[in-house]
Amino acid sequence: MAIPLALATFTAIITITSANQTSTAAPSLVTFIFGDSLTEVGNNNYLTYSLARSDFPFYGIDYTDHKPTGRFSNGRTIGDIISEKLGIPSPPPYLSLNPSDDLILKGVNYASGGAGILNDTGLYFIQRMSFDDQIDYFENTTKVIKAKIGEQAANNLLNKAVYFIGMGSNDYINNYLQPFLPDGQQYTPDEFLAVLNLKLAKQFTRLYLLGARKMIFHGLGPLGCIPSQRVKSSTNQCLHQVNEWVIQFNSKVQKLINVLNIKLKNAQLTFADTYQDVLDLVDNPSKYGFKVSNTSCCNVDTAVGGLCLSNARVCKNRHEYVFWDAFHPSDAANAILADRFFSKLFANTNGPAASAPNHMG
Ligand SMILES: *[C@@H]1O[C@H](CO)[C@@H](O)[C@H](O)[C@H]1NC(C)=O
Ligand SMILES: *[C@@H]1O[C@H](CO)[C@@H](O)[C@H](O)[C@H]1NC(C)=O
Ligand SMILES: *[C@@H]1O[C@H](CO)[C@@H](O)[C@H](O)[C@H]1NC(C)=O
Ligand SMILES: *[C@@H]1O[C@H](CO)[C@@H](O)[C@H](O)[C@H]1NC(C)=O
Repeated sequence: MAIPLALATFTAIITITSANQTSTAAPSLVTFIFGDSLTEVGNNNYLTYSLARSDFPFYGIDYTDHKPTGRFSNGRTIGDIISEKLGIPSPPPYLSLNPSDDLILKGVNYASGGAGILNDTGLYFIQRMSFDDQIDYFENTTKVIKAKIGEQAANNLLNKAVYFIGMGSNDYINNYLQPFLPDGQQYTPDEFLAVLNLKLAKQFTRLYLLGARKMIFHGLGPLGCIPSQRVKSSTNQCLHQVNEWVIQFNSKVQKLINVLNIKLKNAQLTFADTYQDVLDLVDNPSKYGFKVSNTSCCNVDTAVGGLCLSNARVCKNRHEYVFWDAFHPSDAANAILADRFFSKLFANTNGPAASAPNHMG
């Protein structure tokens, strides 16, 4: 059931994209992006008191003009690279736009570093847009779109758009795994997962009621292997327990998505699993042209915050490192991961359902 739905989604994307290539009059793909620091493109720059920010060197050192933009990477995010592959501009940060800007008709990025599925995730960053906040802003966007182009055209645009959602890493890293926050003490791992799942079900449903149909959820990577977690092990190994929780999270979300695809008429939710791809990058860096995957280029694994501050010592060969700072992949790693993500989602669209990509639906 879920696989044909997923295929329908991606066939539609391809059709729209190629139509754009052959005729400039054809509508182009609109994308709305929700997420955390892995997908943020600069919303937090506008949150005066936010501590989750990257609008300073050495962030952006390998981006256009070598300038920081609020992306948590030395270069591009995975979302930037996927947009490039789709032949569309990477949507701008919501907070950079006037809410009534015509640009919202072409897509918006609501992602915010430090954000989580739960409202209180990332609490100590003072300001960040939680997933609920991001959906509130999106609701505002839907109203503005309706006022601009009319109810029917707006519904059409919203139904045809693709929604990329990447959430959940911070609910572990910047919530459950922090001993001084209540959630880690209040809930067993299973209970916490149930809380996340229930909340996520509401959030998917709310997006659906606002017009979203084609939603792609980016599953979590092996968080136990990011530098900030590895340093908690005396031998700098991946934290097996954390990876186990991530695997359970991914599996539970995948099941939720299958249920919602049946329950919500015309919903086309897809689970994009990149866990094994990231793990392979970490376990076999040389296979992909990397040299180091067990520490960050900025050498900030044990630094408070783990970010690549202006006084960090940045590695010389940035493309040889899988991780840029203690949390985030380098531009070079994002390029590999975006390739994998893209080919899983968009490969085989002409083939039979039997050749559908793994881990979908
Ligand atoms: C569509 O095609 C036009 C003309 O080739 C190009 O400028 C544009 O970037 C493409 N994508 C979008 C989203 O308009
Ligand atoms: C989280 O925030 C949303 C939107 O601001 C609100 O509707 C919801 O009640 C909040 N949830 C909790 C558990 O605080
Ligand atoms: C929502 O949109 C209106 C314009 O229609 C704008 O005035 C308002 O500030 C927006 N609210 C938020 C929270 O962005
Ligand atoms: C990373 O792995 C290399 C071997 O590939 C090892 O020499 C080095 O000590 C490790 N670094 C850390 C910080 O564990």
